[in-house]
Amino acid sequence: MDLTERCNLRCVMCYFSVTDRLRFPPFDRELADNGNMPLATFERIAETYFPRAWRVALGCAAEPLIHRDFAAIVRAAGRYRIPELWFPTNLLALNADKAEAIVAAGVHTVAVSVDGMRAETYEKIRVGGRFAQLLERLALLNEARRGSRTRLRFIFTWMRSNREDLQLLPAFAAEHGAAEIDVRFVTPTVGVDNAAELLSGEDPSALNDELAAAGEAAVARGIRLAYYPGFETPEDREENLAAIAKRALWRVRAGLYRWEYFDYELAKWRHGCAYPGRTYVIRPNGAVSPCIFWNEPPLALAPETPRAEVDRRLGAIREAIRCGEPQGSCAGCTVRGDAFYQPFRGDETRPLGD
Ligand SMILES: C[S@@+](CC[C@H](N)C(=O)[O-])C[C@H]1O[C@@H](n2cnc3c(N)ncnc32)[C@H](O)[C@@H]1O
Repeated sequence: MDLTERCNLRCVMCYFSVTDRLRFPPFDRELADNGNMPLATFERIAETYFPRAWRVALGCAAEPLIHRDFAAIVRAAGRYRIPELWFPTNLLALNADKAEAIVAAGVHTVAVSVDGMRAETYEKIRVGGRFAQLLERLALLNEARRGSRTRLRFIFTWMRSNREDLQLLPAFAAEHGAAEIDVRFVTPTVGVDNAAELLSGEDPSALNDELAAAGEAAVARGIRLAYYPGFETPEDREENLAAIAKRALWRVRAGLYRWEYFDYELAKWRHGCAYPGRTYVIRPNGAVSPCIFWNEPPLALAPETPRAEVDRRLGAIREAIRCGEPQGSCAGCTVRGDAFYQPFRGDETRPLGD
């Protein structure tokens, strides 16, 4: 879910480079002038959706830590003991109160977006951010989470400006105590001229070699790959048993074999898409959609629409896909059934979300 429509940065590749506010349909519905979800609304949504949730992201397209009531929100979410409570963030708005609340709430993962391992790269991409401030906030978070279950992930969006920094990521992640990394290609974004950053025109075998080197260096340091683009082509694969076993072992160490992939595959096989009925995207104005790729008017409004009715509508969407007559955004969807969209190599347009 998104707690706010705003971000404190203007990253070159992101929709926030051209706007200070994302608007979500229905456009005539705002719950607060400042674009934040009111705390009381959050609490009602939490009551409805959190008791049986397995994973909740307190951020999606915007920056959760800038919400004035973030500490209260995360504490409220913590009461539901969600197994995977997490959020993506640039971390720059962290303070001691928020850090304490994150850890006390039992947040499972704080995923910090760090697209540069050097001040020069970071500040070129993350416009408005200062690398020195990021390092201070990382130290604050690390101090607060010492001995707790809260783990750190780094998200690295790979593009031309930070192409070389990918090789610095494993050591940077190890130095700052990150348990895992999430690497993804920069993608085109409607309304944003980020063509100069795309890697889609580059030699794929050189990109694959660079991904392989960084991925192997990370795993050798004990860092898991939360998401990572595939870098092996079918021709790379030696077919002897020893090579297959070695690769499988590496993938286990990298954390790339996860039961949830199997679970998603199963849902995809049963319903044609793993999203409707299993995920809920909730925006700051309460709009509920089946996935971040949905760009039609939302299915429902939270907290007013009863949960049973939301689930009935999601069931109808799933059934339509299963019957081969997809409705709404599903009709033109190109990613249907992809449980995770990390294999994008810069030729898919970016949806509003992480
Ligand atoms: C939009 S941000 C929102 C959350 C938070 N403000 C943050 O910085 O993580 C989520 C993630 O999307 C990534 N991102 C932004 N624009 C992108 C693009 N064009 N292609 C791929 N990832 C992008 C960011 O680097 C960030 O890791």
